[in-house]
Amino acid sequence: MSDLEAWKTTDDYIVEHLLGRDADLEGALARNSEGGLPAIDVSRTQAELLALLVRFGGAQRVLEVGTLGGYSTIVLARAVGDAGSVTTLELIPHHADVAAENLVAAGLADRVEIQVGPALELLEAMLDEPPAPFDFVFIDADKENSPEYFALARRLCRPGAMIVVDNVIRHGTLADESANDEQTLGNRRLLAHLKADDSIQATTIQTVGHKAWDGFTVALV
Ligand code: SAH
Ligand code: DHB
Ligand code: MG
Repeated sequence: MSDLEAWKTTDDYIVEHLLGRDADLEGALARNSEGGLPAIDVSRTQAELLALLVRFGGAQRVLEVGTLGGYSTIVLARAVGDAGSVTTLELIPHHADVAAENLVAAGLADRVEIQVGPALELLEAMLDEPPAPFDFVFIDADKENSPEYFALARRLCRPGAMIVVDNVIRHGTLADESANDEQTLGNRRLLAHLKADDSIQATTIQTVGHKAWDGFTVALV
């Protein structure tokens, strides 16, 4: 068995023996696939970690950058509870449409606002008229801009908020000197930005599983 097959088998074991099936999440993946969306959602086990982090912190107001079909959005929206809300930003209108359908099917549409456009512009516009501060942010869009999203989102957060950034390792390209694509450069800039700011506590954790070898940055701002 290859390493990747073994990681996937283990993720499947965790779903079967710990998490259990989830009809709303499986329905979302089916609608995403029908709509031709790329299958780059967080994995089921990663989604559960996001939900736990939201709930550990008692976060009520969540910001997400990069909606796709709303797989992660569903999990975040459940975790904030019925008094909470999620604002999620998506560039591609078709992705946002599929996400909206998935959120209706999951009964969560009333606590989620999907904003459509380039996230840099949407975040700048939010900063012009700041909403109530966010408690938790999940950054999972174009990795080229992850450090910019982090810096802007932070200004929309309360002190003590948590920011999680997806896809920071990308099969080890982060530390591979021969990899110099824009996404990897974005992730390297993210770590440099965090290291240079003593007011932020952050780490980056490598993960394996259905998303192969990747990882999250987790920061307290
Ligand atoms: N968080 C989702 C996956 C997001 S995939 C989940 O786990 O279920 C990344 C998404 O970011 C894609 O839908 C892509 O269209 C979107 N995206 C890419 N560039 C963007 C930009 N500049 N502004 C906003 N969204 C962007
Ligand atoms: C890609 C994007 C993601 O957010 C992810 O989790 C995995 C892959 C991608 O653009 O290839
Ligand atoms: Mg991702």
